[in-house]
Amino acid sequence: MRTKLAAGNWKMNGTRAQLQELTAMSEAATKGAAEVLICPPATLVCAAAEAAEGIAIGGQDCHAAASGAHTGDIAADMLKDAGASHVILGHSERRADHDEHNDDVRAKTKAAWDAGLVAVVCVGETLDEREAQNTLDIIGGQLAGSIPDGATGHNLVVAYEPVWAIGTGKVPTTDQIGEVHDFMRARLERRFGEGVGRSVRLLYGGSVKGSNAAEIFAVSNVDGALVGGASLKASDFVPIIEALN
Ligand code: G3H
Repeated sequence: MRTKLAAGNWKMNGTRAQLQELTAMSEAATKGAAEVLICPPATLVCAAAEAAEGIAIGGQDCHAAASGAHTGDIAADMLKDAGASHVILGHSERRADHDEHNDDVRAKTKAAWDAGLVAVVCVGETLDEREAQNTLDIIGGQLAGSIPDGATGHNLVVAYEPVWAIGTGKVPTTDQIGEVHDFMRARLERRFGEGVGRSVRLLYGGSVKGSNAAEIFAVSNVDGALVGGASLKASDFVPIIEALN
């Protein structure tokens, strides 16, 4: 049985004042069976890990190297030391803004595992790719290319985030989400074996809100959500956590 996961990605939002939202999320996080994860900007990881009760804290990216001359970058081990247990890797905004490709994501995932972090690996097609009916090919390629050998249900979470649904208010139909999630499950089972393939949690991300969460969570092989905008305020995120419980 896979534990449900409500994950929030604060992206490049928030100063210390934002931590009060974490406190407000804690009650809902400790009440239900679903796990709750918040990935604040790097500047807040340490303080968030100290403030969060019943909420896991994650980074939004890490470098593939363990240390060295990489100004502005953060090693997985540093995130771990700051109190993070997870790290988002291969988000489409990183792929687009920083020209990250599957092999970069794969190397970062390996680094995250070496540091003992759970990697939340993101995949997703653009609108052009969907309209050209290439969605499953793209997702299959991203899964194969971005995930190293050695995945388990404990070190890997996969988030399906159609690029066209992120921050746009556009959400795929439940059939479209189900098709991709069933496909990802089958691919993970084929590569890593049935036991591992069935234990990896698959999140949906892209314009998830309190009002559409229950419908999305009812889709087969959806084990939770990776939420952007609606994870910034407890009043928006708590209903999503509650929809998982
Ligand atoms: O990582 C989160 C996703 O990019 C979703 O963002 O919920 O604001 O659409 P959104």
